[in-house]
Amino acid sequence: MTNVIDGNAVADGIRADLEDCVDTLGDAGVTPGLATVLVGDDPASETYVSMKQRDCEEIGMNGIHVELDGDAAPDELYDTIADLNDDSSVHGYLVQDPVPDQIDYREVIRRISPAKDVDGFHPENVGRLVAGDARFKPCTPHGVQKLLDAADVDPEGKDVTIVGRSRIVGKPLANLLVQKTDGGNATVTVCHSRTEDLADKTRRADIVVAAVGAPELVDGSMLSDDTTVIDVGVNRVDADTEKGYELVGDVEFDSAKEKASAITPVPGGVGPMTRAMLLYNTVKAASQQEDVDVSLP
Ligand SMILES: NC(=O)c1ccc[n+]([C@@H]2O[C@H](COP(=O)([O-])OP(=O)(O)OC[C@H]3O[C@@H](n4cnc5c(N)ncnc54)[C@H](OP(=O)(O)O)[C@@H]3O)[C@@H](O)[C@H]2O)c1
Repeated sequence: MTNVIDGNAVADGIRADLEDCVDTLGDAGVTPGLATVLVGDDPASETYVSMKQRDCEEIGMNGIHVELDGDAAPDELYDTIADLNDDSSVHGYLVQDPVPDQIDYREVIRRISPAKDVDGFHPENVGRLVAGDARFKPCTPHGVQKLLDAADVDPEGKDVTIVGRSRIVGKPLANLLVQKTDGGNATVTVCHSRTEDLADKTRRADIVVAAVGAPELVDGSMLSDDTTVIDVGVNRVDADTEKGYELVGDVEFDSAKEKASAITPVPGGVGPMTRAMLLYNTVKAASQQEDVDVSLP
């Protein structure tokens, strides 16, 4: 029978362990602080940052939220970043992407202190990840690695095909899975929009990760028997529901489930893990900056 991997349950377990870490930090007089910076009023971004703030409060961390107008000058954001870099009560923070056109997101990332870059996007942290010395693993790839572990799927020696080569999912995940460490040692193929015969690459894989942003691109006909399928995609498609849409992944769940030995649903798969791993990185940042040992899950 196919194992439908319950991302909510795995994330709940990680959050419970992180609460213990927050208690340990509390005993040392430290409350981990996560700041979110939102420029403008994009509704999806507002939802994401409010969820991140709520997640923080639920496990006893400090949530700090900073909002700037959508027409804020780059210097205004850079001043905010400089303040957060200097604020010792903020152990980690992120600037919610996308930012308005007048702001260069790459420059934003470069200005964030690498020690507080809990998204793991700063060039120094990207370099450390590639070198096998990660300070912060980016949240979604790290969540995928934890889901594989929770489903007892060891990537070692397996062929993994990742569909998507984005900066935040595909590329860092490929780097994590090829590392010579537990949770790595896989042979990784990374596909993208110029890949020829995608189905050939996915059929050859023991583990397929879809991170594309194309509704139900990967279906059962593209998979071999007993594949593990991790669906990172979140796509809104029109539907006869109260909201007028429903969320679907990059994988056609029903046909893929026929072939898969394990598969993540959308919603309820990778999404909750991304949120949990942001808390993980913030607890780790607090532990590093305050020199307090914690047992990270
Ligand atoms: N659940 C979560 O926590 C979470 C977190 C992050 C993202 N997501 C979701 O994951 C999806 C991907 O996000 P992202 O930020 O990684 O996307 P992205 O930056 O838009 O990258 C998409 C990647 O897919 C590739 N691609 C596009 N069409 C393709 C096709 N037909 N065949 C093969 N590859 C194709 C692109 O190739 P090129 O490089 O050639 O353009 C690109 O590498 C989205 O649905 C997003 O909402 C979910």
